[in-house]
Amino acid sequence: MISADIAARLNAQINREFYSAYFYLALSAQAEAGSLKGTAAWFAAKHREEMTHALKMYRYVLDQGATVQLAQVAAPPAETQGVLDMFERTLTHEREVTAAINDLVDQAVAGKDHATSVFLHWFVTEQIEEEATVNEILGRLRLFGDKGQGLLLIDNELATLATQMAQAAAAASSAAG
Ligand SMILES: [Fe+2]
Ligand SMILES: [Fe+2]
Repeated sequence: MISADIAARLNAQINREFYSAYFYLALSAQAEAGSLKGTAAWFAAKHREEMTHALKMYRYVLDQGATVQLAQVAAPPAETQGVLDMFERTLTHEREVTAAINDLVDQAVAGKDHATSVFLHWFVTEQIEEEATVNEILGRLRLFGDKGQGLLLIDNELATLATQMAQAAAAASSAAG
């Protein structure tokens, strides 16, 4: 059993994960509209990944006998200014998520809620990887450019990364199933 305070905080995090999914879906649509197929596939893969984060947390709240309370999900950005802007916003967004997860861990530890603390470790590790990946993409965008040949190169790389994410997700779900 978890405290009402932790349950409320976890419900807020479920909302953030759904917002993340929505955020990436919006960017995927914008990339596809801009003929960036690889970028669109990468953001679509991120969308699916964030849905699994939301559902993982939803499952934990239910398993702890607490109430899942789904709130309104905020609207994602209606437009972005090209691929560099998309990834800069992505990094800002993921840093906010990392801060929220860290805050949740602080609260779980302060409340001697070991189960929640252990549960959240997976998310702590996940955020390290997510920020590193986005930093790497941003580095390559700045190095090779976000126009012309450089953009084509990065769009192709993102297509490959999206395929790898889909394979990893399929392997994870078959291992869990
Ligand atoms: Fe997430
Ligand atoms: Fe994320």
